[in-house]
Amino acid sequence: MQIGILTGGGDAPGLNAAIRAVARSAFADGADVLGVRNGWAGLVEGGDVSPLRPEDVSGILTRGGTILGTSRVNPLAEPSAMEAVVANLGRLGIDALVAMGGDDTLSVAAALAERGVPVVGVPKTVDNDLQVTEYCIGFDTAVAVVTEAVDRLHTTAASHHRVMVVEAMGRDAGWVTLMGGLAGGADMIVIPEFEVELNEVVDHLHARHRQGKTFSIIAVSEGADVVGLPVPSDTEAPLDAFGHVQLSRRGIGERLGRQLEDVTGFETRVTVLGHTQRGGTPTAYDRIWATRVGVGAYKLLSEGDFGAIPIKRGDRVESARLSEVAAGARLVPEDLYRLAQIFY
Ligand code: F6P
Repeated sequence: MQIGILTGGGDAPGLNAAIRAVARSAFADGADVLGVRNGWAGLVEGGDVSPLRPEDVSGILTRGGTILGTSRVNPLAEPSAMEAVVANLGRLGIDALVAMGGDDTLSVAAALAERGVPVVGVPKTVDNDLQVTEYCIGFDTAVAVVTEAVDRLHTTAASHHRVMVVEAMGRDAGWVTLMGGLAGGADMIVIPEFEVELNEVVDHLHARHRQGKTFSIIAVSEGADVVGLPVPSDTEAPLDAFGHVQLSRRGIGERLGRQLEDVTGFETRVTVLGHTQRGGTPTAYDRIWATRVGVGAYKLLSEGDFGAIPIKRGDRVESARLSEVAAGARLVPEDLYRLAQIFY
């Protein structure tokens, strides 16, 4: 048997651990492995693949990014592209495919499974917002980056008596911002799920000052909105191939910071963490869970359970259907959001 491995969408720390886990499981089973280059692009444009040998997956456990490369190419945008993917899988002799990605990449995998293509998924997105699973590869590392940033911002904020706005990732779901903010002790957390008015933020900053707290840290998700914040017309952000706005171009952190300084008079600085949250070495937790879901993906595949995806439930690796991934984002529940507010 020959299996293909593909990583699509945004890269995430821990992907290489998952690639290694799938490949090592396959080698132990006597199967061959092909690495598909650059996500779905590698199966659309004539088939860009290369064999993965044991030495190719040696020493990659600790490396961030993905050794296979990735892209946001979306074959669902054109029927001919989907035909090309199916044809290339056949032509390249890929008996089964492991697609690692978030909802976009996995929506393509689900469509392929629907057509009878032998494919399994692996959950990956630092946003951690796939409804079917409690864990997606990369989330823990992203939270660690936000936590460290908030920690570091604390000392400089306190020294200068400033307001610090820190913008973290989070499109529909504010998991990274909330967890990083919670762990770092942010003084207010603004995420896409819960509406916040500009006046609430302003009042909170004033209240802290009255208590003698001359600095504040506001963590905001790049996908969040603040009611009452003027939206300049030049923030029309471009869309990616899956139709998503490039959130980093919305500039919510910068706009919020500017407005807070204007309204409160408190000196304010803005830090946009951006892709630092997706880069670098994965945490131990990401390495371990990426390994577990990677091994789980090969197990599903070897059992012929196509159209499935290994997921985390409690401390166990279980499985769900790829068709369930599209059901919508897993959002931060209100009780967790309210818990963070206790520390404002
Ligand atoms: O989808 C995950 C994600 O990291 C989002 O949080 C972020 O908005 C987006 O990817 C950034 O994508 P890109 O790397 O294409 O700029």
